[in-house]
Amino acid sequence: MTRNLFEGWTESLGEGAAVLRGFALPEETALLAALGEVAKLAPFRHMTTPGGYRMSVAMTNCGPLGWVTDQTGYRYDAADPETHNPWPPMPPAFLLLATSAAASAGFSNFVPDACLINRYEPGAKLSLHQDKDERDFSQPIVSASLGIPAVFLFGGLKRAEKTMRVSLTHGDVVVWGGPARLRYHGVLPLKEAEHPLLGRKRINLTFRKAA
Ligand code: SIN
Ligand code: FE2
Repeated sequence: MTRNLFEGWTESLGEGAAVLRGFALPEETALLAALGEVAKLAPFRHMTTPGGYRMSVAMTNCGPLGWVTDQTGYRYDAADPETHNPWPPMPPAFLLLATSAAASAGFSNFVPDACLINRYEPGAKLSLHQDKDERDFSQPIVSASLGIPAVFLFGGLKRAEKTMRVSLTHGDVVVWGGPARLRYHGVLPLKEAEHPLLGRKRINLTFRKAA
């Protein structure tokens, strides 16, 4: 790995939360190759919310557990409900990115067992929410962005609190944990754009310790 050759810069989003600018860039080739392999085994799909809405973001997972939503609610599942197979294993490049980003942000023992992969096209969005389907809130969330830019909303511990707008571009990694672990967050509708490697798409890898 060549991470030591590349020093990105870190922006604090408050206690326990930071954006590591460009952190994933040195590994973009390995990450995109691994993503392609995962998506072959567990294709992207538009899941349904418990309220019956089709999500505009297409999703898949890798690792021992995958986050799913359907009419019955949100949960982590070891099997892909579409194929009934286990989710594809977490690629080594994904795991290394997650652990090294967490460590850079001050969370040294993070070992994710779930990676939710979100795929946005222009117009897709993610409403303000907390990540709270995990058992262990002592572990952070690590969220890597690839492809076209997005505006990430980062709020407080209550939905009504004011949100910060953070522009995220290809290679940026956001980490939040500790006192920030349950901060509300979301993504504004993506603007039309084209990325040289990913076309009109944004991919977000969200790593979590779910069990
Ligand atoms: C998420 O909250 O699961 C994804 C956030 C993002 O796409 O940046
Ligand atoms: Fe989230």
